[in-house]
Amino acid sequence: PPAENMVMVQDFEDWAQKVLSETAWAYYRSAADEEMTFTENRDALRRYFFRPRILQKNSTEGITETTFMGIPTSVPIFISPAAMAKLGHPLGEVNLTKAAGECGIVQMISANASCGLEEMFEAKREDQSLIYQLYLNKDRAASETLIQKVEKLGAKAIVFTVDVMWQSKRTMDVRAKLPSPAEAAAAAAAPAPASVSHAISGYQDYNLTWSDLAFIRLLKKNTKLPIIVKGVQSVEDVQLCADHGVQGVILSNHGGRQADYSPAPIDILYEVRSLRPELFDKVEIMIDGGIRTGADAVKALALGAKAVGIGRPALYANGTHGEEGVKRVINIFQEEIASTMRNIGVSKIQDLKPEMVGPAGPWVG
Ligand code: FNR
Repeated sequence: PPAENMVMVQDFEDWAQKVLSETAWAYYRSAADEEMTFTENRDALRRYFFRPRILQKNSTEGITETTFMGIPTSVPIFISPAAMAKLGHPLGEVNLTKAAGECGIVQMISANASCGLEEMFEAKREDQSLIYQLYLNKDRAASETLIQKVEKLGAKAIVFTVDVMWQSKRTMDVRAKLPSPAEAAAAAAAPAPASVSHAISGYQDYNLTWSDLAFIRLLKKNTKLPIIVKGVQSVEDVQLCADHGVQGVILSNHGGRQADYSPAPIDILYEVRSLRPELFDKVEIMIDGGIRTGADAVKALALGAKAVGIGRPALYANGTHGEEGVKRVINIFQEEIASTMRNIGVSKIQDLKPEMVGPAGPWVG
């Protein structure tokens, strides 16, 4: 079906499962171990419901423009950094860059993107903002050179991903690489990498700690770009990020691909809101993981997220429909966010408030 016939973001995933190569589907869809966190990311979002208000002034406007990290965006959705877009479509991440540009949203470029950095920066519009996601290299000089390069190319911020402290077992990805009985019988060939994840991650330094903080100092010395820490999973670590002068955090469990049984980002957000609301004034808080509808996004925004990220939806839509598919996904989010806001009595993003969302079920006094 053409992209415009896709009604829900989920429709792209259903279609992707039918048409992507086995390798691409397994790599994109895979999550760690029992996939409990992967499932929980969706389930947790479904446990929050709105507290709609009626007869509110201007509530039909549905204005989705806002800013995060000082960057204007047509809708508070960003493309989370996700590797290997070429597995799904020969033009790879450039499709995401063009779609993001056309729709006026931010793309975060994966450290393991399958397109070259220059290609993506050349594909962007003049007024379009790209953010670069960094994995710290065991060879720090290589990271330093890279940071200088992306700053020069015009990146607006560095996303420093810290939740890959070990190469987790991405179950589907690992299984997809197991040899068939025939291949096993003809075992003369060189051993294949254990998975796509393993094949692309060899340079990453897993030995990073708060105590030396070398990474943040290193970044501060080498760049004026704001720093966003991605993969924060507790209230305590949001506080530590603020203490260390980081400008943004993304509450994220890597789409359930790292520590299985780590909590859903929406629940961490709710915990920060309940226990430490002052942190929202110290650091910009974003979330990603399982965001599939406008309602999901609006719940997070109401609880204080400045923007929400999408990972797999962009990869799936790129895999099924290329740039057109990614644009359609962004447009579906825009339409659903505007519609949700209208129906709960809010005219613009800045007017969303924590009291507009609560845990599902009857109020218990
Ligand atoms: C990712 N993610 C990720 N994150 C990151 O910081 N650097 C990366 O290179 C990648 N690569 C990557 C590949 C694939 C195939 C997926 C699915 C995810 C995590 C990503 O940024 C984001 O946190 C999650 O994808 C969000 O969850 P959803 O939207 O996929 O449910």
